Amino acid sequence: MLVAPSILSADFGNLANEVKAICNAECDLVHVDVMDGHFVPNLTIGPVVVSAVAKATTKPMDIHLMVENNTFFVDLFAPLRPKYISFHIEEEKHPHRLVQYIRSLGVKPAIVLNPHTPPESIEYLLADIDMVLLMSVNPGFGGQQFIPSVLERAKRLKALIELHNPNCLIEVDGGVNNQNINALKEAGVDIVVAGSYVFGNRDGYKEAINSLKI
Ligand code: DX5
Ligand code: ZN
Repeated sequence: MLVAPSILSADFGNLANEVKAICNAECDLVHVDVMDGHFVPNLTIGPVVVSAVAKATTKPMDIHLMVENNTFFVDLFAPLRPKYISFHIEEEKHPHRLVQYIRSLGVKPAIVLNPHTPPESIEYLLADIDMVLLMSVNPGFGGQQFIPSVLERAKRLKALIELHNPNCLIEVDGGVNNQNINALKEAGVDIVVAGSYVFGNRDGYKEAINSLKI
């Protein structure tokens, strides 16, 4: 299992050191939540702050857009050279075009599904993307409770991935901790995002990240 701590739960007054700390604790990716106050009822960070993250990190960035007007945000963040940019299928009229556009900018395209969105809705996009991000909370905030129906959705998605693009990875985001990590692994999940579990862990970031690397 690969682990992508979400910096949404980091101490933003000490952001560069927080990013260095999770990299030293051997995370696999740094998950960056971009919220615009329209698609979700919260507002986070733009390219000025994310460029500071890009300078501090030694691990690839995984940018999760929760925005209206995806293309505008792709143009802002692709120059920061993240490994992945993921966008919500619920907010995009031309997902196939946007996937091709993200790839043309040298970034791996990924698609995010909200908890109610069936994996079958992106069956014919799977061949062209590198990752699917399944939300296991409603997007907008860290520290929410894990929605267990994501496990069944991951299994259904895994079957479709095997059919269309076995290289496509499954990432799960929201409420991930050491209580649900085994079930996520069994469901075929490749990468977990964890915000409050990693940054709130009293035993330290390294212990938290290790406990998810199963
Ligand atoms: C929620 C974000 C998540 C969030 C996860 O909209 O996409 O990445 O930071 O935080 P936890 O792990 O605390 O649920
Ligand atoms: Zn996220």
